[in-house]
Amino acid sequence: MGGVSPLLSSSSCSSSSLTSSRAVTMTMMRRSVKNTRLSTTSGRSAAGENSSTTQTTTTYKRRDRLAQIKGNDRGKSKVGKTLELKGWVRSNRAQKDRAFIDLNDGSDMSGMQMVVLQEHVDENVWQLVAGATSEVSTGASIRVKGKVVESPGGKQSVEVLVDELEIIGKADPATYPLQKKRHTLEYLRGIAHLRPRTNTIAAVSRVRNQLAFATHQFFQQNGFLYVNTPIITASDCEGAGEQFQVTCLLNGLEEEGSAGAAASVAPQDVEKVEQKVKSQGDIVKKTKADKGEGNATKEDVDREVKKLLALKEELTELQSGSNTPQTSVKELPKLKSGGVDYEQDFFAKRSYLTVSGQLNGEIMASAVNDIYTFGPTFRAENSNTSRHLAEFWMVEPELAFADLNDDMDCAEAYLKHCITHVLKHCDEDLQFFEKNISKDNLRERLQNVVDQDFARITYTEAVEHVLSAKKKFEFPIQWGSDLQSEHERYISEEVYKDRPVIVRDYPKDIKAFYMRANDDGKTVAAMDVLVPKVGELMGGSQREERLDVLEKKIEEVGLEKESYWWYLELRKYGSVPHSGFGLGFERLVQYVTGVENIRDVIAFPRYPGSADF
Ligand code: 4AD
Ligand code: MG
Repeated sequence: MGGVSPLLSSSSCSSSSLTSSRAVTMTMMRRSVKNTRLSTTSGRSAAGENSSTTQTTTTYKRRDRLAQIKGNDRGKSKVGKTLELKGWVRSNRAQKDRAFIDLNDGSDMSGMQMVVLQEHVDENVWQLVAGATSEVSTGASIRVKGKVVESPGGKQSVEVLVDELEIIGKADPATYPLQKKRHTLEYLRGIAHLRPRTNTIAAVSRVRNQLAFATHQFFQQNGFLYVNTPIITASDCEGAGEQFQVTCLLNGLEEEGSAGAAASVAPQDVEKVEQKVKSQGDIVKKTKADKGEGNATKEDVDREVKKLLALKEELTELQSGSNTPQTSVKELPKLKSGGVDYEQDFFAKRSYLTVSGQLNGEIMASAVNDIYTFGPTFRAENSNTSRHLAEFWMVEPELAFADLNDDMDCAEAYLKHCITHVLKHCDEDLQFFEKNISKDNLRERLQNVVDQDFARITYTEAVEHVLSAKKKFEFPIQWGSDLQSEHERYISEEVYKDRPVIVRDYPKDIKAFYMRANDDGKTVAAMDVLVPKVGELMGGSQREERLDVLEKKIEEVGLEKESYWWYLELRKYGSVPHSGFGLGFERLVQYVTGVENIRDVIAFPRYPGSADF
């Protein structure tokens, strides 16, 4: 096991590792008005009054869950205690005079065995458990009260001898979709509302939770500020044109008849638009008043007036054709050139779901020093691979006064921290993945990542490795083309023998506009962290901090300079060398658990054709 200490075996990966106890105690020092008054009357000095304080203590304590009950000694210290437990039935094996219920509450893999002895419980409880119409079936939720006893079976160290049992929610065995047998992950995707009750998805959720915790822990310990960047944005950070557009222009289009569909104008359609003209008129009045008070600009007023004029035009058209059939009741607002007039959209410009929080991260790092974001990002890539989602979570640190070497050091330390953390806190779940999912030496492989330095090579060296490989690849490679997933995996799995590899200095033409130009004129200070099985886990770079170089680059790649005015200003005022990277959080979960398909490491995956649940 390569030096992995079997810590926290039974309570592994539960929330218990976040705080040693689930009781959260907050002690607040509050200035006490009452005390001040009292002390005044009792003749204390004014200075004494002002500094007088009392302690208020608030204690919050949730019911212990199975993982916490078992703790580090697999429940041994709880023997003899009577407990009340709540959870879901995984299985119920009823025999002649006794029944064994496998209870799980999601807090760990193994749950706890409940033993019901016919002679020990009321007849109605026995019937509930073992009668012909037993309701203690797989999937049902129950409440149990009983005493913890040592378990004679070798599988668990303790079990609960049931005194009381109550059904909280039944689950009809004839229709409940989860059975004790293993289901395929494909089947489970179709029942995402129930799959967190399976061992695999519950374990994924616990490991994911610990990785999120480790992420915050690493950056917080290193003085990074956690910032939130917007989900809706008007800029395309990666420039890959994979954005989901956000618009309100389509709202109501369907109800009112789509463009091109023949429809006659009903009087209520005219009334609706009349109403809209009236409300927009009010908005114009209000905006003008706001402008008078300095709360709105001339641009705000112009925009609202423009919307009003467009609505009035729509109304005139409707009124003139209200008795004759016409092609469309409502159309997208158009520019004279024929394009859509986004000035009339909600944000008065074309907007999207963000593909990365980086550009805003750079703003923050240019003011408050090192930051990180951790949020959802969206990409409308129509790819059905096992490594792409349309909605995924990204961890993005941005380091101020930092070059590419600083960036690589941070990426390596962060990944090692996460892996060390899960090895320590998720042992039971990792054992499960090792046995059932990766079917290899998962924990040993992870420990090796922590114990060795990552390999660091240039893109040119990476290409040379692929070119001199003995094996055949699906995609050919030459200097200047992007590394495909198969190349990335070959490099980290075979050339570097299951070690993470950082590849740096990529050709400028295959990387984003913001990456810093290297002196060779051909490459940029980019870096990707490649890991076995997954390929690219992180992508980052040193950012171009030189105003003139960045301006030229923006023109070269055909972006509108005006849209990036604020990004350019960061280079005008107190510009500093800075660097950052993005880690695909689901890919990290894949890497750590060995789960093959990215759709199984997020509770509710979004991919082409699927936004259910
Ligand atoms: O390499 P990417 O595109 O980098 C950026 O977005 C930078 N702005 C990050 C930065 O420097 N702040 O994406 C970063 C990582 C990838 O390495 C990959 O792990 C993951 O995000 N990723 C995806 N994960 C799941 N599904 C997708 N469609 C992904 N696209 C990228
Ligand atoms: Mg990338």
